[in-house]
Amino acid sequence: MSKVLIPNSFREYVQIVDLPKFEDSRGSLAFIEGSKHVPFSFKRAYFLYDVQRGSCRGGHAHKVLKQLIIAAAGSFDIILDNGTEKLNIHLSCPHIAIYLKSCVWRELSNFSYAATCLVLASEYYDEADYIRNYLDFKSYVRAN
Ligand code: TYD
Repeated sequence: MSKVLIPNSFREYVQIVDLPKFEDSRGSLAFIEGSKHVPFSFKRAYFLYDVQRGSCRGGHAHKVLKQLIIAAAGSFDIILDNGTEKLNIHLSCPHIAIYLKSCVWRELSNFSYAATCLVLASEYYDEADYIRNYLDFKSYVRAN
């Protein structure tokens, strides 16, 4: 994966986290410790798999939730939108994670065959934390 550069306009929403890893002749191992490699402890993990060719996931923002997103297998794109600008990040290395804060619209697309998106989340699932309508998201950004 080529080095991901986060422009100034997105630095308050997203950071690249280079996870510690061990590589030897048997293969590779990367790990994440809550509050150590990301500034939150995890309450929940979920993963997207069997994503059909051409499908998009996400398409929402969160009011509070923070997430660490990892391409555990294969690759996909994360398209971020802060209400005025968009940023496309291609994730393809299991040891390079995206730390995503709240109040940013995200869509996941361009999944490769057998890609798996692993997400570690700061909160339990709560539908009330989702903003699923883009115009509501724009209003929320203006108001906050
Ligand atoms: P959704 O967040 O819409 O998925 P995506 O971000 O890929 O668009 O979730 C799809 C369904 O799964 C929705 O009905 C809620 C449910 N769900 C849970 O019950 N627990 C969870 O941790 C998550 C992420 C989703």
